[in-house]
Amino acid sequence: VDLPWPDCALVIVPGAVPRLLVHRDLSFWERVPEPDWEHFGDHFHVIELADVEEALKREIAAAARGRVAFVAEDRRRAAAWGFGDGDVNPAGLVGALDRLRTLKTLYEVACLAEANRRAARGHRAVAAAFQNEEAPSELHLHLLYLSATLQDDVETPYKNIVALGGNAAILHHVHYGREAPRVGRSLLLDAGAVCRGYASDVTRTYADEGSPGGRAFADLIARTERMQQALCARVRVGTPYEDLHDEAHGMVAKILREMGISSLSEDELVARNVTRKFFPHGLGHSLGLQTHDVGCLAKAPRPENPWLRNTSVIAPAQVFTIEPGIYFIDALLGELGASPQGPSIDWKLVDALRPFGGIRIEDDLVVLEPSGRGPVVRNLTREALGAK
Ligand code: GLY
Ligand code: MN
Ligand code: MN
Repeated sequence: VDLPWPDCALVIVPGAVPRLLVHRDLSFWERVPEPDWEHFGDHFHVIELADVEEALKREIAAAARGRVAFVAEDRRRAAAWGFGDGDVNPAGLVGALDRLRTLKTLYEVACLAEANRRAARGHRAVAAAFQNEEAPSELHLHLLYLSATLQDDVETPYKNIVALGGNAAILHHVHYGREAPRVGRSLLLDAGAVCRGYASDVTRTYADEGSPGGRAFADLIARTERMQQALCARVRVGTPYEDLHDEAHGMVAKILREMGISSLSEDELVARNVTRKFFPHGLGHSLGLQTHDVGCLAKAPRPENPWLRNTSVIAPAQVFTIEPGIYFIDALLGELGASPQGPSIDWKLVDALRPFGGIRIEDDLVVLEPSGRGPVVRNLTREALGAK
């Protein structure tokens, strides 16, 4: 439910239509937008009240002999209403809700698909500007993305990552430069959109092949793209997502070796943590009402995968991202240089690629019911952007 109104409450009693208690703020300073009731209005009994707090206190008093739980972030309010600590966000209830959120309904998938179509309009516009305009700045590309997707900055599901050149090595680069960098003609755009509260999360990386070092970096982009597609094709119902993350490290190792970035064997590159210096983040995460959605991190990842946000067993109706990357991050390359594996690296090649920052390719996938034949996943991002 995409309800942009503060101080509302949803009262859920088993067997009854859920009641949505809403408070109309009549302030003449501000006005909250009207929600889109179309798809959920019928499922709730909407009650407008001058004082939601009072109504809730009465509800709680009436229910006090039964079991009551408070699910929200505002613990102070819960205490004011007389909820004991054990009844505020009880782990059993919140865990069950979170697990429910990992499996998307057809309605939710339709929203996620539309969020991808909306993001695709921005990605296309920014890619064209990067290709055709003379030295566009990060700020210019960011504003262009907002305009093409009809989103205000605060409405995007996460702050757009618009990184030119070496800034792509900053995984969450959100301080947009006002000028184009002079070296490293590359662009990493990680930007999504929202549809009825559901997020898309999409990354593409581009390079100007004609610029110095551009050909090698474009080759690396093409290899990363093929790796990402191979990983999407490896998704299987019943496979732990962490296995895919491990496979991604094997694929990064192959690329590092084939490009001549390191002379070590693929097995050594993984075993000696070299791939983790180039691909330091997780392969992906559950996606839904939150960009990093809840419920798929039921257990901690293995210690060597500290940033992995999805340790679930892949199941039909899950929606998650697949977003491998290869980066040239000064701090991590410094560690690599100082390690016993340092001499295996072709530092001249690394230094030629460093001004381009890094690469990430990110798609949003829905896991389908296994049918024996036919596709295992639906790729909402490629559908929206056009194949490839
Ligand atoms: N845009 C944040 C992420 O890809 O997880
Ligand atoms: Mn993501
Ligand atoms: Mn992203």
